[in-house]
Amino acid sequence: MGVSAKMKRSLEGTSWIRRMFEVGAELAAKHGPGKVCDFSLGNPDVEPPAAFQTALEAVVRERVPHKHGYMPNAGYPEVRAAVAGHLSTELGTTLSAGDVVMSCGAAGGLNAVLKTLLDPGDEVVASVPYFMEYGGYADNHGGSLVLAPTRGDFNLDVAAIEAKIGPRTAAVIVNSPNNPTGRVYPERTIRDLGAMLAAASRRVGRTVYLVSDEPYRHVVYDGVKVPSVFAAYPHSIVITSYSKDLSLPGERIGCVAVHPGAEDAKTVVAAVVTATRMLGFVNAPALMQRVVARLQGLSVDPALYRTRRDRLYDALAGLGYTAARPEGAFYLFLKAPGGDDLAFIRALQDELVLAVPGRGFGMPGYFRLAYCVDEAVIERSLEGFRRAIAKFPAGR
Ligand SMILES: Cc1ncc(COP(=O)(O)O)c(C=O)c1O
Repeated sequence: MGVSAKMKRSLEGTSWIRRMFEVGAELAAKHGPGKVCDFSLGNPDVEPPAAFQTALEAVVRERVPHKHGYMPNAGYPEVRAAVAGHLSTELGTTLSAGDVVMSCGAAGGLNAVLKTLLDPGDEVVASVPYFMEYGGYADNHGGSLVLAPTRGDFNLDVAAIEAKIGPRTAAVIVNSPNNPTGRVYPERTIRDLGAMLAAASRRVGRTVYLVSDEPYRHVVYDGVKVPSVFAAYPHSIVITSYSKDLSLPGERIGCVAVHPGAEDAKTVVAAVVTATRMLGFVNAPALMQRVVARLQGLSVDPALYRTRRDRLYDALAGLGYTAARPEGAFYLFLKAPGGDDLAFIRALQDELVLAVPGRGFGMPGYFRLAYCVDEAVIERSLEGFRRAIAKFPAGR
């Protein structure tokens, strides 16, 4: 009665990140908030760049008629034009305002795109480990996720993705820089993926779209470049947001860009716009659209996260933990000592350190740390990490 059976199942299967959030609140209530080292949430602690405040104040002061009114569902034409101009340079493909739809964050964009592409029973191929919300998003639109393994270094396994593509495959979704591994897929891999998708589309008799989820595009280290999927495959849709790049996750602002050479590109854009309305977003937030239009190409300084990556990675490696060194985003994905991720994150909780088990990303045996936290938290946590791994001496 009341709540649907399907929604009840969703409530029971609530995400591991949310569960950790609740555990964190309990531990903070018991031991004091300053005692818990919380690495569970990808909620940037770095403040937005100063230019954000300046742009926000200017936009608030602007006297324009109907400033808070409805607008075209795709967003303000001048904002779409500004975003298209910037993305043209970044993605190496000339885009116009008509190729861009403003969204409520990457999450809103992903839902609008999946609603656009999926018929009931269609499939979306994702690579493990993956951002766990993808499963719910595909399900929202009658589809399901089909999972392919990645390579040992968490790079995409193009052959494994190919093996999962069949007549029901509407899209392949990739996320680089990756949550949870911090991996940036190299240009060669993206090129191979594009060539494979072209061949697989011919094989299955439908265009398999490539959906690239890129909210961490500007959070990269050591000169690593995030290659453009547009350069590799025309039937591509890029989804990005300003949640991580500009530290604005609460403002719910992002965008969708459709390659102008994609099959049915204009219809795809029109469908994303309609989906934005039908899903109840109606349009991306008005003020934030005007603000981000002034901040194209700007992002938080990734060096702030790189310092934390270096400290955390080096310290944990020194304690005997194993992980791939992240090239971007602000996550570290480590092997769970002893092999049981749940047992290990419980051992960390005993030390008041919060992490998310790998099974929350489809990969048991690992755990994720979000290092978008103050450096003092990293320092405070190290003794807990040392004691926790000491409890699992055999399985390192
Ligand atoms: C890979 C990935 N995609 C999408 C999102 C959603 O981002 P947004 O806040 O822009 O909706 C996140 C947020 O953590 C993410 O990690």
